[in-house]
Amino acid sequence: MQFSKQLSGKFVFVLFGATGDLALNKLLPALYNAVRFNPSLAQGHFICLGRSITDEDKYFATVKSYIEKVSQTDFDADIWQKFRSLFSFLKLDAQTAADFDILKRRIEALQPDVKIYYLSTSPKIFPDIVHHLTRTSLNEGNTRIVLEKPLGSNLSAAQKINKIVQNAFPEDQIYRIDHYLGKESVQNLMALRFGNRFLEPLWNRIHIRSVQITIAEDIGISSRGAFYEDIGALRDMMQNHLLQLLCFIAMEPPYALTPDAIRDEKLKILRSIPLYTHDEALKNTIFGQYAEGMINGQAVPAYLKEAEVKENSKTETYIAAKFLVSNWRWAGVPFYLRTGKRLPKKLAEIVISFRSVPHNIFMPPLNAEAPNKLVINLQPHDDMRLYMAAKPPGATSQLQQVSLNLNFTKQLNQRRPSAYERLLCDIIRGDLSLFVRQDELEEAWKIMTPLLELKEKNPDILEAYRAGSWGPESSHVLLEKDRAKWHEEQ
Ligand code: BG6
Repeated sequence: MQFSKQLSGKFVFVLFGATGDLALNKLLPALYNAVRFNPSLAQGHFICLGRSITDEDKYFATVKSYIEKVSQTDFDADIWQKFRSLFSFLKLDAQTAADFDILKRRIEALQPDVKIYYLSTSPKIFPDIVHHLTRTSLNEGNTRIVLEKPLGSNLSAAQKINKIVQNAFPEDQIYRIDHYLGKESVQNLMALRFGNRFLEPLWNRIHIRSVQITIAEDIGISSRGAFYEDIGALRDMMQNHLLQLLCFIAMEPPYALTPDAIRDEKLKILRSIPLYTHDEALKNTIFGQYAEGMINGQAVPAYLKEAEVKENSKTETYIAAKFLVSNWRWAGVPFYLRTGKRLPKKLAEIVISFRSVPHNIFMPPLNAEAPNKLVINLQPHDDMRLYMAAKPPGATSQLQQVSLNLNFTKQLNQRRPSAYERLLCDIIRGDLSLFVRQDELEEAWKIMTPLLELKEKNPDILEAYRAGSWGPESSHVLLEKDRAKWHEEQ
């Protein structure tokens, strides 16, 4: 994370899939803020590509409405004018060679020092795009290619895409996005661990009993039914976001804040996770799909009733799994990971449970699985709570659980760029630290392979859960087997 890396030269930023959900909801609003807060971005030109819109003005009117919606009261007409002056639109079909010839002429006329291609499309068309970029020599020179997740649907598909992309671009020009790495709170995990003295001596199997990582969402699949049907929670969230968070919690200190030093340490962790046999996967994984229920007092339909979802769909909207990290620091410590749609609230949280004291002279707090716990909230609030046992006043030796709360947003009272804004600026500056390397990505797919196979061979292991609940019944049993509980149940 070379925070001070400066932008050098003129760049062109080409956005494939500019009419898609991700571009309109996340990327373009993030670019609007990037332009607003980084004057050097005015050295660039942005070309939005899409095959469905022909009228440039209409397209940018749509973009503006999304930016207004995302920025709410913060929309500024002058900034919009500045933003708009840096953008143009081009109709392009990834399968049409002639469209790339037009794109090439447009790019050459701009005479950029750096060419950036952001592929916010289905990974199915990555090979076509890369083929045409190569055919037109647009991959040559100082270029960067950005790939959205999920990259492939399994290990062999990911390897195939990686090979195609790597034939056209060197690895240090490939930016594989996992937007969780752009979140301030996630980067703060490293600062907490490696910028402080007091946590690290406790950060191991001797003191830590278990780690829970939860990414919960109250939303369903909105208008993404067709996309989600082919993907499911494992590919959408666990293969990438959850495993990356696990790496940040478990990794050794990198020797420096350089992209490869960080990525080498993450890779070691991924390689330390033993691959499950079929039976182990069955014992340690729970797949769920939401049934109808209530969220925030509103009735919501079952996944099977969502638009573009197949009648008997077996796509999981929830997954929980237990993993081990077999190395000296973590041997025997369970890492419980879970994510789901239509859970009671939006939340990303890491819970570190510490072991009990070796010899209790007090009565430990009642109903507390572990008297000492560190709860790191990544969203919606960026805060941390340290649970401890304290003696309440009076003649008692029965301890009570109390907590020390630290609110990062309040104490570090500065503007927090969104994850995408941060990552887009890093791409433009050429900083790879917060992007996933090929070997990391493939290792993550290897860990997921037994789970994917289990689900494919036994689609009926999918359990229904009520929308608004914390997931299928068995997700609780998974922890009970270890005499543990999910944090919200304690
Ligand atoms: C995306 C998934 O990667 O992350 C979505 O494709 C999910 O399904 C989203 O909703 C969650 O991101 P965040 O930043 O809102 O937690």
